[in-house]
Amino acid sequence: IVVEDRAGLTAVRETLGATRGEATIALVPTMGALHEGHRSLIRLARQRADHVVVSIFVNPLQFGPGEDFSRYPRTLAADLAACEAEGVVAVFTPDPAAMYLPDRQVSVSAGGMGTVVEGEFRPGHFEGVLTVVLKLFNLVRPDIAVFGQKDAQQLALIRRMVADLDVPVEIVGAPTVREPDGLALSSRNRYLAPQERVTALALSRALREGARLAEAGAGAGEVLGGARAVLEEARTAEPPLAVDYLVLVDPATFTEVGPSHQGQALLAVAARVGATRLIDNIGDITV
Ligand code: PAJ
Repeated sequence: IVVEDRAGLTAVRETLGATRGEATIALVPTMGALHEGHRSLIRLARQRADHVVVSIFVNPLQFGPGEDFSRYPRTLAADLAACEAEGVVAVFTPDPAAMYLPDRQVSVSAGGMGTVVEGEFRPGHFEGVLTVVLKLFNLVRPDIAVFGQKDAQQLALIRRMVADLDVPVEIVGAPTVREPDGLALSSRNRYLAPQERVTALALSRALREGARLAEAGAGAGEVLGGARAVLEEARTAEPPLAVDYLVLVDPATFTEVGPSHQGQALLAVAARVGATRLIDNIGDITV
């Protein structure tokens, strides 16, 4: 069933017995245009809770002035069919006008962690993400919530928010789903022309090269250098890749690690092909 407001969510919780503690609810927050990555989150959520609620809301707060809010794909009918096929109990699709009060003042600050790496290129983005995610938690009141490792800094910041603000929800991270050729699934992939898609493969190729070097015993500097060389090649492809960043970071804090760092790290990349901006990462790197 589709619900659009708090009253609808309360009725769902009541019917399922969640208000009486008889059943657990998992929330999968999305912006719609659902693909196999989203569906894998829903399936993981189903394993972890009795019922799954999916939210579909293209959150204006997390898009910058020059970004793709107005042309973000909206495919509600197909999304509802996908949710139904995955056994989702309720889809929450709030009305944007009702979600944000016209006189709203208060939001969630992402702190310093929200201004580095992805946050440096998208000022205010993570504050918009955390604000909507906290609102969704308060509206749906799930026992657990599932997020993809595809958006690793977002996942790390949500864990940080839950710890720092004592939010009563368990956060579950889900692995990145990829096309057979390595391209990480994204709602924005549909913007890629065939040749742009070929260029875009450099992101996952660079990450794989970095992971391969790490597995072969390379240090942080060498891992970064090997991945950078793959991206460098794609900068002269047709159409070319425009790299925003390639960084090796502490997976929990997203602070960059130095070339002599030893331990766990996450290799993250962001780049543009034509008008499309793509991000990807690989998390389980030991240098
Ligand atoms: P959206 O981009 O729709 O993604 C919804 C969820 O799906 C996120 O947790 C994201 O990490 C996950 N996801 C996307 N692509 C994936 C892939 N290839 N494999 C696995 N998981 C993937 O992220 C957002 O929406 C928003 O910022 C949101 C959290 C809903 C707040 O507005």
